[in-house]
Parts: sequence; structure tokens; C-alpha cells
Amino acid sequence: MAINELLRKYNVAAPRYTSYPTVPYWDNDQFNAAQWKQRLITAYSLHKLEGISVYIHLPFCESLCTYCGCNTRITKNHGVETPYISALLKEWKMYCELLGEQPKIKEIHLGGGTPTFFSAENLKHLLATIAGGNRFDEQATCSFEGHPDNTTAEHLQVLYELGFKRLSLGIQDFDPKVQFMINRYQTPQQVKAITDLARSIGYQSVNYDLIYGLPGQYKEGLKNTVEEVIALRPDRIAFYSYAHVPWIKAGQRHFTENDIPQGDEKFALYETGRQMLVNAGYEEIGMDHFALKTDSLYIASKEGKLHRNFMGYTDQHTPILLGLGVSSISDCGTAFAQNAKTVEEYKQVIASDELAVQKGHLLNLEDIQIRRHISNLMCRNQTDFGAVVDTPVLSRLQPMIDDGLVSVNAGNVTIKALGKSYLRNVCMAFDARLWQRQPQTQLFSAAI
Ligand SMILES: C[S@@+](CC[C@H](N)C(=O)[O-])C[C@H]1O[C@@H](n2cnc3c(N)ncnc32)[C@H](O)[C@@H]1O
Repeated sequence: MAINELLRKYNVAAPRYTSYPTVPYWDNDQFNAAQWKQRLITAYSLHKLEGISVYIHLPFCESLCTYCGCNTRITKNHGVETPYISALLKEWKMYCELLGEQPKIKEIHLGGGTPTFFSAENLKHLLATIAGGNRFDEQATCSFEGHPDNTTAEHLQVLYELGFKRLSLGIQDFDPKVQFMINRYQTPQQVKAITDLARSIGYQSVNYDLIYGLPGQYKEGLKNTVEEVIALRPDRIAFYSYAHVPWIKAGQRHFTENDIPQGDEKFALYETGRQMLVNAGYEEIGMDHFALKTDSLYIASKEGKLHRNFMGYTDQHTPILLGLGVSSISDCGTAFAQNAKTVEEYKQVIASDELAVQKGHLLNLEDIQIRRHISNLMCRNQTDFGAVVDTPVLSRLQPMIDDGLVSVNAGNVTIKALGKSYLRNVCMAFDARLWQRQPQTQLFSAAI
């Protein structure tokens, strides 16, 4: 089948599978905070020696990037920093009390919003307390997202001294016309200055986020952006598909659907960028990610140690992830829990000495098996059922087998080279909860 026909056939609404079950399919009615605590304590008693991952959501941004799909709060008032940090520290203390000790941290990531909205001094207070001393363990993987506009030398230095060795810069696109449409401005010179400084301080991995499918984006402009990026040689690149979800994120109504490249046009943008990155020595990893061969993400993927969680792809695996802050999601392997989604609600619940957990899901055995298959597909391009593939999965995969996207050999399902662009569609064939309850309205962005 021609590429254009494949695109038309498979460009349906599809989850990005940072979890299974996906958030809209969680059984919130069957969940409460007491059960979450119980499952977390049990998981911790089994896995404490392995250490845990921590995600901290820092939602504030000084201005609205109209494309943004993340949980953010736009404000220029930096008076919000201290009360929010106090709530985070109280939440951390409640978790430590629940677990009976300060857990060993193997991985920590600061996401947003804009973590560098916070002063270096405030971040130091937050993180040194969470580290339980002056800095994180030498072996821990510590990373943060920075906005090129407000990441300062002081941020880089202070975080490095705390143990942070990875920096992720949001770029999205360097084309001035696209930057105007998405209300987000940064020049290659600015990005180069921060990258050079980070490297001179000792940061070992610099990631850039790029997006294809943004309003006003076209092939030549994207080529220029990718060329600028290649010249700066980040260790990793996340090349995301623009997720258009204006029914959730009103900011995306600042432009119209006519401004957004879709279908064949959007796919051609991805292909152009992908080819340029591969030609420049980057290896394609899982979905949307590229890394130099020297980067730990590439090494983990070669060694079959790549993982995927709510933070995206990672080379670390811990059975427990604690999400602190507004809207953060935690995962203890047998349950998910998500915090309150507004800053006010989050702070209010924490102030009443309760965890801010508002919704969640208790995984049953079938969920755990499906989760394993989806993680295998996302991270290793294949999965194994043992003797035979489950019949409903096989019948849902059949069109993709016929179209040469997937091969099935006894109990093994492997994604073929042509199928890599349709990873989300392949995972959907495994998503029992989605097939049991087809959505009445659109929940997810388009697969391509
Ligand atoms: C929360 S943002 C953090 C960016 C960083 N704090 C900054 O401001 O530069 C994380 C990344 O998610 C990606 N992202 C946000 N909204 C998106 C959307 N609608 N579609 C695809 N990717 C998106 C962007 O690449 C962004 O850099």
C-alpha cells in the first residue's frame, strides 16, 4: 500500500502510551487514596533497595506558549514560588512518613511548566531538602527542563552542584513565523550560549525538544531549524508530533486547524527531520526520540534496557515513581495516582495534611500483562506472548500484518521498519480497555 494510503488509514486518534491503562480509561470509581497508600507501602517493602524515581511538576510560566499541552499556570508574580515549594516539601515529608524513611532516589526529573521560572535559590532549598543533605547520590540520574529565555548561569551551577547532569531545553522551532504563531521566542544564539555553558560546567547530556506539525510550519523552515540543531550537537533530541487537543487546552484556539500541517504534509515534516537527524549520526529511539551513540539513552536501547514512564523514555528503571506537585502522576507498579489539577486545590489538600491524590487506578493482572506488552513494543519494538498471540489482539493486528507494518511468528509480535511510524496504532491493538469502551468523543490527538 502506498505511504499516503497508509497514512490516511492509520491517522486516527491514538494515545501516546506513557501508561497502560491510559488516563481516560482509569477506573476512578474503584480507587481511593487509602488503597493507593496501601499498594505503595507493599510495593516499597518489595523494592526499596532498588531506589525510586521522583518527578516534580513546577507549573508556572511567565507567558503562554499557545501550542502547549502541559499543565501550566501563567503568571509574572514570583511570589508564588515560596508557598508552592512549601507544599512540595510537605508532600515529600508525608510520603517519607508513609514509607517509614527517606527513600533512596535513583532518578529525579523537574518538569513543567517552566522549572527555571523558580529562582536558583528556591530550587536549591527544595532539592537539597529532598536529597536529604546537600546533593543527590553520584549514581542518581538528575535532569531538568529549562526555558532558554530564563535558564541562567546560576541555575546551571546550583543544579549541577546538587547532582544534576542532564538538561532539557524546549526549542520547538527556530522559524520566526512559527515562533510568532506559538508565542514562544528563542534564537539559536541563545540556545548555543546555554548549551556551551552547561557543557563547560560539566553537564553530560543536553536534550532539545522540537515539535513537528506546529502552526505555520513548512518544510524549508523546519529544515533550517533541524540544521541549526544539528550544528549545536545536542546529545538527545525529542522530535514530538504536535498534539492538537483544543478541547482540553484553550490556548491552542489562538490559531485554527487551517494553520496546522496535517496528514501527508505533517508526515513529510517528520520524515524530513528524521532523515536529516539520521544522516547527522543520530539514532532513532522508540517513538519521537533521537540520540547520539555516546548518549546513555542509545546505550540503554542497544542493551534492551530502555524504559518508558510518565516522564517519557528513560534509561533508568525503578518500580516506583513518586510524582510531586500539581497534576503529577505516581506509579507503584500495581496502582497509579494523580494529584489535584489546580495549584489552589493542590495546596489546599496538602495544607490539610493529606496527600493531594485525586484520581487513580488499581491495576489488575490483565492490566499488568498488557502494560508489559505495550512497554515492550514502545521500547524494544517487539513483544512475546509465549506460545500464541491472544486471539482478540491478533484479529486487531491483522490489517497491520496485511499492510506489512507488523509480523507475527507464533507468540511473537515484531514491528517492521515500515510499522515504526505507526507504533501508537500497534499498541492500540493491545489496549483491551479502549476496545471495551469506545469513546463517544475524541480523547486523544491524531496518531500521526
Ligand atoms: C512542559 S514542556 C517544558 C518545556 C520547558 N519547560 C520550556 O519551557 O522550555 C515539555 C515539552 O513538551 C512538549 N509539548 C508541549 N506541548 C505539546 C504539544 N501540544 N504537542 C507536542 N508536544 C508538546 C514540548 O516539546 C515541550 O518542550
